[in-house]
Amino acid sequence: MPLDRRHFLIQSGSAAAVVALFGQGCASTPAPPSAGPDETLGFTGVPASLRDGIVIPPEYEWQLLYPWGSPTGVAGRMPTFAPDAGNSADDQAVQAGMHHDGMHFFALDAAGERGLLVMNHEYTDEQLLHTDGVKEWTSGKVRKSLHAMGVSVIEIRRSGQGWQQVLPSPFARRVHGNTPMRIAGPAAGTPLMRTAANPAGDAVFGTFANCAMGVTPWGTYLTCEENFHGYFGGPKDAARNATPAQRRYGTVAGSQWVEYWRFDERFDLSRHPNEPHRFGWVVEIDPFDPTATPVKRTALGRKRQESATCTVAKDGRLVVYMGDDSRFEYIYKFVSRDKVRPGTDAAARAANRHLLDEGTLYAARYDAGGRGQWLELTHGRNGLDAANGFADQAEVLIHARLAGDQVGATKMDRPEWIAIHPQSGEVYVTLTNNSQRGDAGKPAPDAANPRANNLFGGILRWREDAGDAASTGFSWDHFALAGDPAQPGSGARYPSAGADAFGAPDGLHFDRGGLLWIQTDLSGQVIGKPPYTSLGNNQMLCADPASGRIKRFLTGPNGCEITGCVVTPDRRTLFVNIQHPGEARDDGDTKHNSAWPDGTTPGSARPRSATLAIRRRDGGIVGT
Ligand code: FEO
Ligand code: CA
Ligand code: CA
Ligand code: CA
Repeated sequence: MPLDRRHFLIQSGSAAAVVALFGQGCASTPAPPSAGPDETLGFTGVPASLRDGIVIPPEYEWQLLYPWGSPTGVAGRMPTFAPDAGNSADDQAVQAGMHHDGMHFFALDAAGERGLLVMNHEYTDEQLLHTDGVKEWTSGKVRKSLHAMGVSVIEIRRSGQGWQQVLPSPFARRVHGNTPMRIAGPAAGTPLMRTAANPAGDAVFGTFANCAMGVTPWGTYLTCEENFHGYFGGPKDAARNATPAQRRYGTVAGSQWVEYWRFDERFDLSRHPNEPHRFGWVVEIDPFDPTATPVKRTALGRKRQESATCTVAKDGRLVVYMGDDSRFEYIYKFVSRDKVRPGTDAAARAANRHLLDEGTLYAARYDAGGRGQWLELTHGRNGLDAANGFADQAEVLIHARLAGDQVGATKMDRPEWIAIHPQSGEVYVTLTNNSQRGDAGKPAPDAANPRANNLFGGILRWREDAGDAASTGFSWDHFALAGDPAQPGSGARYPSAGADAFGAPDGLHFDRGGLLWIQTDLSGQVIGKPPYTSLGNNQMLCADPASGRIKRFLTGPNGCEITGCVVTPDRRTLFVNIQHPGEARDDGDTKHNSAWPDGTTPGSARPRSATLAIRRRDGGIVGT
């Protein structure tokens, strides 16, 4: 097994970002290729479009990688995709899952032309996943569905034919909804984590609902469990006994999206009420070792986890920024107790093995006037005690949302991805939308979430005091309030005149040169309809925070979300995920409105989520 990580430190975007920001790199670390101020966003911008396909600047080209159902590359187990969805649950366990989301590229060589692409599979479209849909569920369909979520590790290589998957690869791995994993940190083993199948409360089968992500400085991948609640169910009358915490997290019988609970009893809330406590976490996966057991890191708190964006504080401790994507939920930060041991070799990995298990969790409060505070979520402080319903630190973490209420954190407009500027250290977060802001009985607009009925979302950013990610105070402002400024009363505000408009920002990625890639997730129900018409299909834009310019780079097929983005360390390839093409879900019509990428007209093929590898035709730096 060629577990060679020597090149990771200088090749990984995130590690390079840490090096650039904090100067911890060795003397031989090459400076990232950067573009001068006149060279950014030089590409031909593309118009907003309702075209059912991929549109990118003419001087760029794209290739398709790893659509749903492609073999992952596990030796001896490489079932090909059956276009009628006839693959079995066992096949699906070694094939690309559905609904590609967060993603990272871990380089395996110094040239950056060989690497591991690691990506989330967020959720399932059961109509597409099974030949006859799910009018009738079976235990086999439940297994196939669980196997279609989680994470893929694939090896890819670039040659004269462009990027191609290495098949088979010793690194190839699917982590899915039935993969054994460990639970670690302060909540592990505590009463709320114990189940009949695992009385020790320290092990669980699977991860699912994997949305955005993070990368540690020591080269592991962090996947975030977002909408886990929708997979738990039970007899409707059980909902009467739901606790306030269960209601807050949405794990209430009768509200499930799927019928797992009828076939796999751990999903039955009336029988196993603690099982959902074992989801909603950040999960650490070692992409370089396919035998390594993934670990759920409870010190980071339980929520509808979106993003686990890592950086290093001035004193060497790890800092992880996280969003909780629901209306009126919080933004969080974890600061490790111990310092990061620099490097990605075996010794560093061993030294950092428990780094995510001890530390301090905070929730953010954004005050009027552009100042903010990180509020500590530690048992015994800030009212987090037994009198207020928190028996110990485990309960603070398992019910982090309730802890955020107690300390007075700011209720946000659905925090999604978080990205850190590689030179300034400024932290950017997408607030995707919140149609209930200002509704009767709901929180009113505030300084950080200034618009009632916020249909278009925006991007907020902050700068930690003294430029130190471990600070408890910060200054913030809005980078953009999204929407179509041509519409009266839109409230849209962009950092420069002539910025291309967008709505529902979600995915967010800084490349090493400091260009910000923004991806959008307008719901399929609203795409192309007023007041969203002018924004077209979901899209990706590139922003230059130095100038405030924002230019549209890509538009996607009908019904899709654009999500998951990573620029290679040499800045010459951009990997992007196209999630759920064809997911229209409008007006009760369940037909898919795209057959991308296999068919040209809706209905001609099952649409498949997939990854794009995008390059300039001249091989130059993307985004310039
Ligand atoms: Fe899965 Fe909040 O996006
Ligand atoms: Ca998202
Ligand atoms: Ca979203
Ligand atoms: Ca989506």
